[in-house]
Amino acid sequence: MPRGAAGEPEVNNVQNLLARRIPGYALERAFYTDPEIFQTDLETIHYREWLFAIPACELVKAGDYVTYNVGAYRVIIVRGADNQIRAFHNTCRHRGSIICKAAKGNAPKLVCPYHQWTYELDGSLLWARDMGPEFDPRQHGLKTVHCRELAGLVYICLADVAPDFDTFANIARPYLEPHDLANAKVAFESTIIENGNWKLVWENNRECYHCGGNHPALCRTFPDDPGVTGIEGGETPAYMQAHFDRCQAAGMPSQFYLHEDGQYRLARMPLKEGAESYTMDGKSAVRRWLGRSPFADAGSLLKFHYPTTWNHFLADHSIVFRVTPISPTETEVTTKWLVNKDAVEGVDYDVKRLTEVWVATNDEDRQVVEDNQQGINSPAYVPGPYSAIQESGVLQFVDWYCNTVSARLAPDSMAAE
Ligand code: FES
Ligand SMILES: [Fe+2]
Repeated sequence: MPRGAAGEPEVNNVQNLLARRIPGYALERAFYTDPEIFQTDLETIHYREWLFAIPACELVKAGDYVTYNVGAYRVIIVRGADNQIRAFHNTCRHRGSIICKAAKGNAPKLVCPYHQWTYELDGSLLWARDMGPEFDPRQHGLKTVHCRELAGLVYICLADVAPDFDTFANIARPYLEPHDLANAKVAFESTIIENGNWKLVWENNRECYHCGGNHPALCRTFPDDPGVTGIEGGETPAYMQAHFDRCQAAGMPSQFYLHEDGQYRLARMPLKEGAESYTMDGKSAVRRWLGRSPFADAGSLLKFHYPTTWNHFLADHSIVFRVTPISPTETEVTTKWLVNKDAVEGVDYDVKRLTEVWVATNDEDRQVVEDNQQGINSPAYVPGPYSAIQESGVLQFVDWYCNTVSARLAPDSMAAE
């Protein structure tokens, strides 16, 4: 058992730690280091919530698939012959082998590499050799994973009974539709491992207190006004409301929206004066735009949906981020830059110009998250206070996390399972 600074055993029961949490302060060390709490996070959050997995445009034709690993689960997301996107557990109904080993690919049928049981793209078992007359293929289809497509974004849920998705979908769809993600393609993607707990990745994302000191490229275009990153505290500033109104008059829903349970937020925020996109000169990165923005300086539709995604939807392109916990102190961050599927590389956009600001920003964020983790690993770490002015978004995330875990660990919740 880990020991505290004074040598006494640390309390590592998550309910005890949640009960003694000091409001307005960072979480205790065990939340970022303890394998049992990491497992609790997976079981109460990642195995229960809707998770953004991929943009639908990655699966262009029947048989295109992507695999995604969340904790112990292995998932295949595949486009069927009927054009529908489905998700399945990537474990064979014979003796359990992984079926699709690649990160992505195309397969007319899903064939297990071990004994070649062969599944249709809808998960039904088509063929299994020498299983005898009693064997019923209909009882041995792939186990399904809940899967929903929302305006070109594919979400999955690993729970047996998925929580409501429609409320979120109905609220988010009008904001997303003008960005026309169904007609996107992935211009570039990056996956990095940050040596920090997944919550530190989120906490860092939810404030821009660190931006001025760490993000020289991003700060050319992204305002470090805490009202942009955080949550609404009081009046919307006049310049921001004017931006919302201008975009909304042009058919682009923009008004700040934070759901009552805190899991997701949408707002089309202005960039810095004159900026159009996340480029070094602030001008658009793509000549042929993705979506129907009526003007270049529409800012960025900022969407987050805990626990796996934050996104930026701009006039010319969109960027989707996916956060996947790997271990108590490792988190995978995947970033995909989406452009109009008809935009031609080298003609309509240059990949370096399109990606350089966020490639640099991701690496800078990786560094501060890793520094944060290393300091927390020290027995001398004690949780410090958040800035009410700069870190309302961090507090909002941590509140959502604590409330969600507490509710799911409550005796009534467990009994209802
Ligand atoms: S484990 Fe898949 S065919 Fe045997
Ligand atoms: Fe950052």
